[in-house]
Amino acid sequence: MDQIFQAPRIIELTSTDSTNNYAANLLKQGKEAEGTAILSYYQTKGRGQRGAYWESAKGQNLTFSIILYPNFIPLKNQFTLHKIVAVSIVDFLQEQTRSKVRIKWPNDILVNQHKVSGVLIENSLSNNIIEHSIIGIGLNLNQRNFENPKATSLRAITGNRFDILSTCREICSRILRNYYMLNQNGSENIDASYLNLLFGLGEERLYRYRGEEIYAKIKGLNEAGKLILTDDKSNLIQCDLREIEFIY
Ligand code: BTN
Repeated sequence: MDQIFQAPRIIELTSTDSTNNYAANLLKQGKEAEGTAILSYYQTKGRGQRGAYWESAKGQNLTFSIILYPNFIPLKNQFTLHKIVAVSIVDFLQEQTRSKVRIKWPNDILVNQHKVSGVLIENSLSNNIIEHSIIGIGLNLNQRNFENPKATSLRAITGNRFDILSTCREICSRILRNYYMLNQNGSENIDASYLNLLFGLGEERLYRYRGEEIYAKIKGLNEAGKLILTDDKSNLIQCDLREIEFIY
């Protein structure tokens, strides 16, 4: 664990189907050092949540995956990894922009309500522990136009160009630092930071829940990371990603 404080090891690729797939293949061949990152300047089949495609123009944005062995995190708390990653990305973005950065549960990162980053975490479980975790991150840096009108990039927000490799190093270091702190001190701080950054917390907003539009307020998360809301009739709702859609 202590060795993760060394400069992150980054494997750079010109092109691959998906850095998450590349990391999974590496792990099939043997163990990689914890904290190893795979960065590709282009993905031919970048994957998003719920089977979606991750849109990212060639050579414009940061698309990478980090390998971790979080066997100290109890299975029931796997969501803590999502929190570490989201909070680390937000920290970086808050330094780079003077805008409002929020986490749209579970781990979309929004700047001024536009998505600038998305995370796809793939855990391999065995004997009731997380054997390895592949943390895939897409962060839009320099791309100017997106098919999705709700997407944006750091360049669109700040007007500046961002270097892909140094941004990768910066984000990896933050994730590894927070991961180390979690291991040393437990999750209290990261839980609080995540909640504090949650988009829509305590606000009455419109959602599509199990196919129906409802007004509800986010109250927080349960231990497993499910979203807890109350609707306008004070009914308590606990849901996972497939059940709810934010309308904003
Ligand atoms: C989402 O918001 O839907 C998650 C997007 C995750 C995209 C990243 S890009 C690097 C890594 N490789 C992939 O194929 N997906 C993740």
